[in-house]
Amino acid sequence: MLVAEIIEQARDWERAAHVAGQTIAFVPTMGALHEGHRALIRRAGEIANAVAVSIFVNPTQFGPGEDLESYPRDLEADLKLCRDEGVALAFTPMPETIYPEGDRTVVEVTGLSEVAEGASRPNHFRGVTTVVLKLFAIIQPDVALFGWKDAQQLLIIRRMVADLHLPLHIEPVETVREPDGLALSSRNRRLSPEARAAAPVLHRALQAGLQRVIAGARTAEAVRDAVLQELKAEPSVTLDRLDLLHLDTLKPLDRVSPGKTLLALAAHVGGVRLIDNLRA
Ligand code: PAJ
Repeated sequence: MLVAEIIEQARDWERAAHVAGQTIAFVPTMGALHEGHRALIRRAGEIANAVAVSIFVNPTQFGPGEDLESYPRDLEADLKLCRDEGVALAFTPMPETIYPEGDRTVVEVTGLSEVAEGASRPNHFRGVTTVVLKLFAIIQPDVALFGWKDAQQLLIIRRMVADLHLPLHIEPVETVREPDGLALSSRNRRLSPEARAAAPVLHRALQAGLQRVIAGARTAEAVRDAVLQELKAEPSVTLDRLDLLHLDTLKPLDRVSPGKTLLALAAHVGGVRLIDNLRA
């Protein structure tokens, strides 16, 4: 596995892989890799010959007062996981490599970036799309993989790729969960034992909303009620957002649109902000 810190090394690797007739699958990450990331990397290996992973805690997608400094970092363990999974390139740039002095360009998918999670985290998705486009320009993948765990991110990236006519395919991967339902997240490492014990309520609450839909409910209010009711079981968990959105447009829905509905939430669990979602 080549570990590349500078852009030229990554580009040389890309050129050699493509000249050799290989297809490149790319998994962008912020490190602190877990089984969710591993699932993306494995899927990448199934659909392309060469897998590239980036490990970069992207400062521009963190807002003031967010957890950029305390975001978990463990490069050695991350590189081991990548080696174990047969990754060919690990791209681990420094912030000043991605954002050199004088950097001025941002990419924004208007309409999709300011809503839902974007309303709680102004400029977050602008930071995501900007860094992902930069990484695409460096790695030049044939396919890039993103998790449903960050559903809005996946939908925004898909839109960006379509709008900018980028010559690559976006492959979504289902959310990987702990046996108790908690969606794997790098931020789970920061949960205290008490918060970890409370956190599965997020998935249970989303499931309760989904069950209400399966039982025939169609109004957003009925679905929200079911979610809120279940969340009451853990008073230590404070809900930040609960959104019922159209899966393509991310427009808020008054009524469930079967097969096209995204039920997403964000909550504070013992000082750690977690997100999760289900599709209905
Ligand atoms: P990060 O949170 O490290 O996630 C990297 C990729 O792993 C994303 O596509 C995310 O959706 C996916 N992922 C995370 N947890 C998952 C889980 N439990 N199951 C399945 N997939 C999961 O998302 C980012 O980094 C950044 O915003 C990034 C795209 C790298 C841009 O900086």
